[in-house]
Amino acid sequence: MADIRQRKKDHVELTITEGTQYSQSSGFDRYYFNHNALPEVNLDDVLTEAVLLGHTFSFPLFISSMTGGYADAGPVNAIIAEFCEANNLPFGVGSQRAMLEDKTLTKTFSIVREKAPNAFISANIGGVQLINGFSKDKIMLLTSSVEANAIIVHLNPLQELMQPEGDRNFKGVLNGIEQLVKDAHVPVLVKETGAGISKYVAKRLLNVGVEVLDVAGAGGTSWAKVENYRTSNKNPNHTFNDWGIPTVECLKQISTLQWERSFGLIASGGIRSAHDIAKALCLGANFTASAQPVIKSISESGLEGIQALFDDWKNDLKIILTLLGCSSVSELNSSHLLEKTA
Ligand SMILES: Cc1cc2nc3c(=O)[nH]c(=O)nc-3n(C[C@H](O)[C@H](O)[C@H](O)COP(=O)(O)O)c2cc1C
Repeated sequence: MADIRQRKKDHVELTITEGTQYSQSSGFDRYYFNHNALPEVNLDDVLTEAVLLGHTFSFPLFISSMTGGYADAGPVNAIIAEFCEANNLPFGVGSQRAMLEDKTLTKTFSIVREKAPNAFISANIGGVQLINGFSKDKIMLLTSSVEANAIIVHLNPLQELMQPEGDRNFKGVLNGIEQLVKDAHVPVLVKETGAGISKYVAKRLLNVGVEVLDVAGAGGTSWAKVENYRTSNKNPNHTFNDWGIPTVECLKQISTLQWERSFGLIASGGIRSAHDIAKALCLGANFTASAQPVIKSISESGLEGIQALFDDWKNDLKIILTLLGCSSVSELNSSHLLEKTA
């Protein structure tokens, strides 16, 4: 148990160092915007609101699941919650696995509802924990601790396989997700943690009733690198450090499924600017999510840090929309992007 707590603490410390970012790109740099020299838009009228799961948020950014489950995590979750409440943004708490095993850790999660009585908050559990069933009591513990609006299931086989103490059996995760969708009283979202979701995997998840997919592709935080640093294997050439499908490739594959069915598509993994956000929306995402820049800004400057980051991104997105001749994010589409030629 103490191991999980220490691991979660190490993760925060390691992910804020640049050495744990992917060497391969998320793919957004392969595009530039189709600049509109005659935008016919007033920047003051530009709206950044975006809709996910029927909720309207102030901006198309989900604060990705990160922390909870060790003593210092409570204050970090409190800052994220306060920030999201003030800015009308959705967020997810980190994996609640430790809390299921040790109830004294519940406070590090439940603090978020105290700080954010109205915000959209997602619970979080690993797909591996769903193998062989996940009781209704456990679902209730997860959701009631934060009065969750949704449950996020994270898929992280790469990360588990890099952890000496990690899980090795991934048989039964899809069945577990299917059962969770049936038993949960809130929508189920599924995300990767940085290695990406392919079209093949997306189809299987949508077929069992998952409502929203967060691709969490390669190009941002590399969990292979994080785990290899954590276990003192600091070899930067570790053969799995760059394993994963780049975020843009995930979007290109999965967005084609939107022609046949309706579901939410979140782009994450290497979202590092408003430019990345706008490009992701042009490539078919309905929403985006980000983790590392958020935890970094909080560790450097607390609530002010995350607010400053968001204000910059919001300001930039309004300028981008104006320069593309759009007055709202829903107008963004593939015609606003040009692919660079080699
Ligand atoms: C410090 C930290 C802790 C994380 N813990 C979790 C977690 O508990 N559950 C989860 O689903 N994802 C977790 N993630 C993964 C992120 O939600 C995200 O999918 C991944 O880092 C890729 O996004 P990024 O490139 O913006 O960092 C964590 C990320 C960070 C930076």
